[in-house]
Amino acid sequence: ASLKHLNSFGFEVTAETLITLTERSQLPLLMAHLAQSGDELLLLGGGSNLVLAPFVPGTVCHMAITGWNLIEQDESCLLQVGAGENWHDTVARTLDEGWYGLENLALIPGTVGAAPVQNIGAYGVELKDRVNRVEVYDREMHRLYWRSADECEFAYRDSIFKSGAPGRFIITAVEFRLSRKARVAIDYAPLQAELSGIADPSPQQVFEAVCRVRRSKLPSPKQLGNAGSFFKNPIVTAEQCAQLRARESELVYFAEPSGRCKLAAGWLIDRCGLKGVRQGAVGTYPKQALVLVNWGGGDREAVELLAERIQQQVQERFGVMLEPEPRFYP
Ligand code: EPU
Repeated sequence: ASLKHLNSFGFEVTAETLITLTERSQLPLLMAHLAQSGDELLLLGGGSNLVLAPFVPGTVCHMAITGWNLIEQDESCLLQVGAGENWHDTVARTLDEGWYGLENLALIPGTVGAAPVQNIGAYGVELKDRVNRVEVYDREMHRLYWRSADECEFAYRDSIFKSGAPGRFIITAVEFRLSRKARVAIDYAPLQAELSGIADPSPQQVFEAVCRVRRSKLPSPKQLGNAGSFFKNPIVTAEQCAQLRARESELVYFAEPSGRCKLAAGWLIDRCGLKGVRQGAVGTYPKQALVLVNWGGGDREAVELLAERIQQQVQERFGVMLEPEPRFYP
């Protein structure tokens, strides 16, 4: 089966076996199939944070469980959403219903179930700030249950699902804690700038501003294959940051609560003269150097070669090793 439309880079990828899961009741069948075949399992939501090889052996499971379930409380609500729901549509719908909290995360490609894996974040809000629990099928305990946000070990672009116990859990739903009262988070500088003309912005206005900022510098995977930020923003010691600043007065960085500094990887790459470069079928996006794009006909190997070139140059110039954000499979 072709995965061309199930990976946001738009690579030509063939899966040995592709299964679509629409109901929780199909889970035992999937487990039996895996036990019998001895197949590795790749779970796929929107495929927007993946770098796939041209052939994917084993079983690929496209998570397509849908559905909404609302538990109203006074000023807040708990909203359970099926893992296969589209992320952006979910954000837009919560706003239409008057439940606030997800507006900063508008327009992120992918599905609800994929969101906790790398703890998606943008414009000052991370998924972990809005999640109450995550429903999982635990392949070790052979049962379906809810894990509290604490038990998900969320960190910057990371969670138990990504690095603590990869492959152990199948996420089937996410429970968000949202608010009926409008309380907006607009500390992130580029967002504040976008909202500068508006005195007391509503969540809807924040949503629209986030969409405008994203559209101005991030390519839509529907138009140009990409996986969002290709590298994580590296976190360095305050000392290393000070040394870099002494050499590069324009260095872009953010102080972390821990005292360490998060550097803007896009700025580092840009500074190496690598913004908008093209190498074969792939390149860095001309408006955001942190995003690698597939101009057409690209594949995993092309992306790896370009990523290595970027890592090497950034390492040579700044002494910082960039770590890829998307998952490589297999
Ligand atoms: N910059 C440059 N040149 C570039 C790119 C960026 O100078 O080519 C500078 C910008 O001017 C800015 C700074 O670097 O001063 C940061 O850039 P930006 O605001 O675009 O954000 P980012 O740090 O590159 C992160 C997330 C994005 C998220 C935005 C907004 C990571 C790895 N990426 O990007 O998330 O949308 O902040 O919050 O943390 C993703 O993870 O896939 C993703 C798109």
